[in-house]
Amino acid sequence: MKAIRFHEFGSPDVLKLEDVPVPVPANDELLIKVYATSVNPVDWKIIKGARRGKYPSNLPLTPGWDVSGVVEKTGNDIDNFKKGDEVYSRPDPTRNGAFAEYIVVKANQVSFKPKSISHTQSAAVPLAGLTAWQGLFQFGQLQAGQKVLIHAASGGVGTFAVQFAKWKGAYVIGTASENNLDFVKQLGADEVIDYKNEKFEDRLNNLDLVFDTIGGDTQTRSLTVLKNGGRLITTLKPENEEEAKAKNIHIEGFGAQSYPEDLKQIARLIDEGKVKPAISKIMPLEEAAAAEKLSEEGHVRGKIVLQVV
Ligand SMILES: NC(=O)c1ccc[n+]([C@@H]2O[C@H](COP(=O)([O-])OP(=O)(O)OC[C@H]3O[C@@H](n4cnc5c(N)ncnc54)[C@H](OP(=O)(O)O)[C@@H]3O)[C@@H](O)[C@H]2O)c1
Repeated sequence: MKAIRFHEFGSPDVLKLEDVPVPVPANDELLIKVYATSVNPVDWKIIKGARRGKYPSNLPLTPGWDVSGVVEKTGNDIDNFKKGDEVYSRPDPTRNGAFAEYIVVKANQVSFKPKSISHTQSAAVPLAGLTAWQGLFQFGQLQAGQKVLIHAASGGVGTFAVQFAKWKGAYVIGTASENNLDFVKQLGADEVIDYKNEKFEDRLNNLDLVFDTIGGDTQTRSLTVLKNGGRLITTLKPENEEEAKAKNIHIEGFGAQSYPEDLKQIARLIDEGKVKPAISKIMPLEEAAAAEKLSEEGHVRGKIVLQVV
């Protein structure tokens, strides 16, 4: 089969299209024929070697930790999926990813894809969608009527977070640059702040939750807009833990997990028309390196999908 692989850490130029054997599923795994996959910042961080220690360092490796496709073969212990099922998943980032014609994934990380959208659209959902879902609801404990600030509301994670928070009945404030302000409003944000021209802390206070995907100074300044007892949840490293504690703010970083139950809930919201993946670009698998370079620039609106079939 065709697969994108890299044999050394470096810029996305290390990615090569190669012929490799089709993987064989273990007893608890599914072999999935990949229809589409998508790009996430974790890809180029792993390709660069920035995640050595946490993520795999055995090369060659195939990146791509989103998949939408069709079950080709089931492991011996599998009784909840069968050949032909249309599924989606965030495969394990410590193993070969989905920039390939086939991938094996543990069945307990897979769910049925949303029925109302194509594989191309569905491939944009798992990693970013799960991150937004778990960040807001599992770690952020967001409730209807609460106020949440979502940083990078126009990004892969942010576009889902705005829609999920709005669905939940929260008051949603999103940061974005000028070109993306209308877009974020259309996603459902009640208020948008142009992070390049306004300091969000000059406008906001007493919030229940900040969902941070930027880190650094943005995360530090976010402590000032939360209420006593508020929560700051980050997809990156939590900083200023002492300051947070002194202000009675719960600060926590997390890594999203591919829980089938969460994938199922997200698919349900998509099929009910309440949430829509935001895709700015669809590129062929062969252009993986160019897609990763675009992502690394840090200004993609929504998601880049790589089409495999
Ligand atoms: N822990 C986990 O499980 C997990 C999961 C997913 C992602 N992550 C991490 O979370 C981060 C975000 O992921 P992502 O997929 O959402 O990234 P992304 O899609 O690449 O984010 C791009 C977006 O960020 C916006 N942006 C850039 N700088 C900004 C700033 N200072 N303030 C507000 N918006 C800004 C850009 O908007 P403009 O063009 O308008 O600037 C762009 O739309 C990455 O570092 C990723 O590795 C972690």
